[in-house]
Amino acid sequence: MNETRDWYKTAVFYQIWIRSFKDGNGDGIGDLYGVYDKLEYIRSLGANAIWFSPLYPSPNADYGYDISDYCDIHPEYGDLEQFKKVLDKAHSLGIRVVMDLVVNHTSDEHKWFQESRKSKDNPYSDYYIWRDKPNNWRSFLEGEAWEYDELRGQYYLHLFAKKQPDLNMDNPTVREEVKKVLRFWLDMGVDGFREDVINFISKKEGLPNSLGILPIIGEMKYYKDGPHIHEYMKEFRDVCNEYNAVQIGEGPMTTVSSALQYLTGRRKSLDMMFSFDHMTADCLFTEYVHLPFKLVRLKRALSKWQYSLEGKAWNTLYLENHDHPRVISRYGSEKHHRESGTALACAYLFLKGTPFIYQGQEIGMTNIRLKSIELYKDVSSKNNYYSYHVKDDEEKRLWRIHQSSRDSSRTPMQWDDSEYAGFSTVKPWFEVNPNYRDINVARQENEDDSILNFYRECVKLRGSSPALIYGGYKEYYRKDPNIFVYTRSLDGEVWLIVCSFCRERLPFILPKQFMGMKAKLVLTNYPAQRQQGKTYTLPKPGFRIFPYEAAVLRMS
Ligand code: GLC
Ligand code: CA
Repeated sequence: MNETRDWYKTAVFYQIWIRSFKDGNGDGIGDLYGVYDKLEYIRSLGANAIWFSPLYPSPNADYGYDISDYCDIHPEYGDLEQFKKVLDKAHSLGIRVVMDLVVNHTSDEHKWFQESRKSKDNPYSDYYIWRDKPNNWRSFLEGEAWEYDELRGQYYLHLFAKKQPDLNMDNPTVREEVKKVLRFWLDMGVDGFREDVINFISKKEGLPNSLGILPIIGEMKYYKDGPHIHEYMKEFRDVCNEYNAVQIGEGPMTTVSSALQYLTGRRKSLDMMFSFDHMTADCLFTEYVHLPFKLVRLKRALSKWQYSLEGKAWNTLYLENHDHPRVISRYGSEKHHRESGTALACAYLFLKGTPFIYQGQEIGMTNIRLKSIELYKDVSSKNNYYSYHVKDDEEKRLWRIHQSSRDSSRTPMQWDDSEYAGFSTVKPWFEVNPNYRDINVARQENEDDSILNFYRECVKLRGSSPALIYGGYKEYYRKDPNIFVYTRSLDGEVWLIVCSFCRERLPFILPKQFMGMKAKLVLTNYPAQRQQGKTYTLPKPGFRIFPYEAAVLRMS
């Protein structure tokens, strides 16, 4: 298969959620001074691109995803000059930079909204979605999707928090504003955008009431992949094309067939999309229904996207970001911290697509368990606690928050074992996970077989072989509840990836077609027990693998 070899296909992204990454000026809040100092660290992982979650001025009702000025930097994080310094240094290290574009909504403190509220006939009055009477839609983050505004005497739509009014993308002036924002950052030299809930920006005319019984699910058909979405996306694409900028869409609830509409054909408007199917191997809608982790669910979702996009479109690969709890606590085992952290890395970093590593994932940071809901910051966790899980007793409600809060991925980055985990010299804006004395970058730098060094090895190996980037994917033992086995092959070169998700030792028999073949063990997470670099004749029945053992083999 002849893939077009665009830069993003060989890229490995590192995602920065700046507030908790590194405090460079001693006020307890992560910032661009801290990022500047850590760019070499990011490069040392083998990453060659950064996605910045929002850096813009924001009242932080949704920690940056409520933007009050698209063309500036939040003063807590630095200023445009400091941003430019980070950008230039990143580029000089060979790291590309992608910004977060959040245009489904703004903050209610954005000048546009402040103007829009004032009357029904000012230049900004149609920038948002106003109605005399609300419909029955629910928001994702905070109760009903409509809020009454006294000044204007009308309700405005907010699909997310109350302080995140939805923009009216049907208004051509709003789309012009979005294009100005794109140009502002592209002219400065950024390399593209991650586009927040971009499949929600076109709403069905008339905003019909939902007939469904389940909140949100019923009405979603009226704004997901809405009637004009592809026209609007085309307008933004044209601007990005002038700069050869990459566009990565976030697509909550997206399906393969709707994703392909954005990713292929004449109206291709995105280079990649973040899908969510594989993030529900232990839940339904992350924060609502909790289920025990099932490897088969995870594999089914991953394989579905691998097979369905083959030869047509390019996948994103991720296990964590600022919206999901830490993956070791979900799909791995905190007790088998190193083993499960490395097995998870191996399971996803060799799939076909562009990998994203979220800050702290590379050292296996885990979920925080705070004692009371008051200590949590995230609007979504509070909303779930107070509005959805009300039938449970206190202990169960808190357990649900421990399992699912987005705050678990937002605790300060654990750099070393000094006070405040080396994140800051003063008490940080949010709790540090108490396990920072064991789990931190400095310690893992010094341990050859650490999760951190395993990530480095995976990334390096991936980059060393076109087959591991462009090769076809094939899954084996689809229904096996304990192991994930797949190959990547190109032009006769075959790589076999085997990852156990089991806490016990397991008998393991290779797929028939590999029996008797020779295989070089190129990477293992059990370096003391297995000889890395050795060529084995593949094992016969009776062979047993270790708990969470992961291996990458090159077949011959
Ligand atoms: C996206 C962001 C999330 C935010 C939401 C609303 O899903 O990743 O953090 O709350 O959009 O902007
Ligand atoms: Ca700071």
